[in-house]
Amino acid sequence: MKNKDRKIIGDLITGCRKAKVLFAAVSLGVFQLTRGAGAASRSIAGKLGSDPRATEVLLNALVPMGFLRKSSGVYKNTPISDKFLLPEKSGFLGHNLLYQNILWDAWARLEQVVKRGRTDFPLRKLLSGHKGFLDGYIRGMSDIAKRPAAQIAELFPLDGAKDMLDVGGGPGTYTEALLNKAEGLRGTILDLPETLKLTKKIFKDHPLSDRVRFQAGDYHKADLGTGAYDMVLFSNVTHDEGPAENLSLLRKAFRALRPGGQVIIHDFMLNREMTGPEFSALFSVHMLVYTNRGRVYSVDEYRSWLKRAGFIRLRSRGICAGADNPSMALAGRRP
Ligand SMILES: C[S@@+](CC[C@H](N)C(=O)[O-])C[C@H]1O[C@@H](n2cnc3c(N)ncnc32)[C@H](O)[C@@H]1O
Repeated sequence: MKNKDRKIIGDLITGCRKAKVLFAAVSLGVFQLTRGAGAASRSIAGKLGSDPRATEVLLNALVPMGFLRKSSGVYKNTPISDKFLLPEKSGFLGHNLLYQNILWDAWARLEQVVKRGRTDFPLRKLLSGHKGFLDGYIRGMSDIAKRPAAQIAELFPLDGAKDMLDVGGGPGTYTEALLNKAEGLRGTILDLPETLKLTKKIFKDHPLSDRVRFQAGDYHKADLGTGAYDMVLFSNVTHDEGPAENLSLLRKAFRALRPGGQVIIHDFMLNREMTGPEFSALFSVHMLVYTNRGRVYSVDEYRSWLKRAGFIRLRSRGICAGADNPSMALAGRRP
């Protein structure tokens, strides 16, 4: 094997270790203790109640990774950790990292999932039974959704629309962006009762709170109404479900829309070969490890379901094109 090829594999082994070192540091709360003037390893271990030898090994690894600086035995945050790893900062990504950390156990069982086609860590079980998962999952989503939500609000103006339904709306970031763009638009966020408890907290005392209502329920069973909405949004929802469930959800959305109303699907999508972009192909494996039917779908698969559900005038737009995690939005109209 050429050195260059060997390095590709070596980098993956190191990358895997680096990811877990960062997840563990965020989960333990290291960066809150190394802000400002910083602290020595013993003092950090004392505050964390952790083992001094192990803590020092972890802290030392965070230095070459670029998350800490070490001088005369004192560890201090670098600008990147100050910007993204402190909870009070607007760029905080810690919730998402905690969610990734919780799913580490699910990823560790990838071979079994591939053999059996089923996971021991299904999303519903994690949402209701795993302490900390809901917060990391939902708040983490909100941290990363602001940019795509703003783009969708820009690309699919809802002028004149009165009512929208955000199916599996989670933290409500997309409802928020669309309502901010279209005066007079009201939003309904439909989600599981456990998720909505958090969504309601996010919208408490929010400037849009009087324009948002909540519908607690399972979107497979919930009544979405008939001719009740001008827009129905599925953002990052369809990748949790299988093809039959997605077709059935789109049929429900069709009934829920007023004539002329539109459905928008926003998600990571794959090319015809199902092999790219790389982020989408890997996200599909991510869905494999914690859902029993989900994966990432191709634009063609979505188009065919939309047509079968009765939608016309289909159009697709790239979202966050050029970013590491590009997604797509696909819209169709009810005639
Ligand atoms: C990946 S999140 C997407 C959240 C939001 N739409 C976004 O793009 O940021 C999926 C959401 O679907 C919700 N969900 C999952 N299964 C559901 C079900 N059966 N019925 C209703 N909501 C569900 C989850 O609680 C979560 O909020």
